[in-house]
Amino acid sequence: MGTLKVVVLYDRWEEPEDAAAASTDKAPLTRTLDKKEVEDEVAETLGKLGHDATLHVLDGSVKSLNAIAKTECDLFVNLVESFGGNDTADYCIAAYLELLNKRYTGSGSRGLLYCQDKAVAKKILEFHGIHTPVFASSYRGRLDFSHNLEFPVIVKPAREDGSIGIEFNAVVSSIRELMERIDWLHANFDSPVLIEEYVEGREMYVGVIGNENPEALPVIELDLSKLPEGTPRIAGAEVKWGKGTRAYRDTKSAVAEGLPDDVVATLQQTAVGVYQALELRDYGRIDMRLRPDGRVAVIEANPNPWLASKAEFAMAARKSGRNYTQLIEEIVDLALGRYA
Ligand SMILES: Nc1ncnc2c1ncn2[C@@H]1O[C@H](COP(=O)(O)OP(=O)(O)O)[C@@H](O)[C@H]1O
Ligand SMILES: [Mg+2]
Repeated sequence: MGTLKVVVLYDRWEEPEDAAAASTDKAPLTRTLDKKEVEDEVAETLGKLGHDATLHVLDGSVKSLNAIAKTECDLFVNLVESFGGNDTADYCIAAYLELLNKRYTGSGSRGLLYCQDKAVAKKILEFHGIHTPVFASSYRGRLDFSHNLEFPVIVKPAREDGSIGIEFNAVVSSIRELMERIDWLHANFDSPVLIEEYVEGREMYVGVIGNENPEALPVIELDLSKLPEGTPRIAGAEVKWGKGTRAYRDTKSAVAEGLPDDVVATLQQTAVGVYQALELRDYGRIDMRLRPDGRVAVIEANPNPWLASKAEFAMAARKSGRNYTQLIEEIVDLALGRYA
């Protein structure tokens, strides 16, 4: 392929100072504070591939949106996860690119929308016979949907990611803790709340790449066994963002070891099934839990997962024999193939 003009699209948003000061909790309410510079890494790699790559930041301003409309390029690499601090806007950006007839990498607005709301995604998975923990969802005190639930449950915002709003006390075992947690979420997030069966088990991530014949990558495990005594084994905000804490330091992702072949096959088939059911494109990562009885429970699907070379997706790609440059090249080719 010849030289392409590629624009790497990413988002940055500084929380206004008064809002930051008003937040009393240590865990961030939006997750822009600590982002690694994945966009630089991707742009650099596109350069190595002989493309002409530039960066474009969406900073929450209309000006930054207008500039996209005026940009002529062969492809946007879409790394956008939010707009103006709004984590639910990812699908709007994709839809905007679609309206403008721009070519871009990753999932389309529909796939992003399905995964955006975990309750919606779980309902679709259930239709496809894919096992996901039973749940209830409630918005501002109104019950939207409910299975029969038993404690312990995990309480989380239905429309966030990066473990925003999921701290260790998200796992509750009593009515009182449950009510307190729902109250806290309603006070801090304008999002329905998901109350979900807490699934005991190993935490497994399976990357999927491709469109016609999506390929599941080797299984990655996040080892949560070394979390401090008394804390639930979850990849909460402390684990993902709590730099300097034990929870952060003692949890590491690595290629899963010692899994029987049939378990690997189940995890991989489940991941591909989820990827297709939720209309993911080009690349995605499915988060699952492996129950002690061997059953696989799907926790969530991540379209356009974090593409840093040190992140789980690239780690799995490497294990499958793709170095980082090859991975980026493949994603570009998959996207362009759609518009051929
Ligand atoms: N039903 C569940 N049972 C057990 N652990 C869960 C459950 N839901 C979430 N978790 C834990 O919380 C983490 C974050 O939840 P997830 O739904 O993936 O949110 P995010 O979109 O913020 O990553 C998961 O990686 C897992 O460790
Ligand atoms: Mg997750």
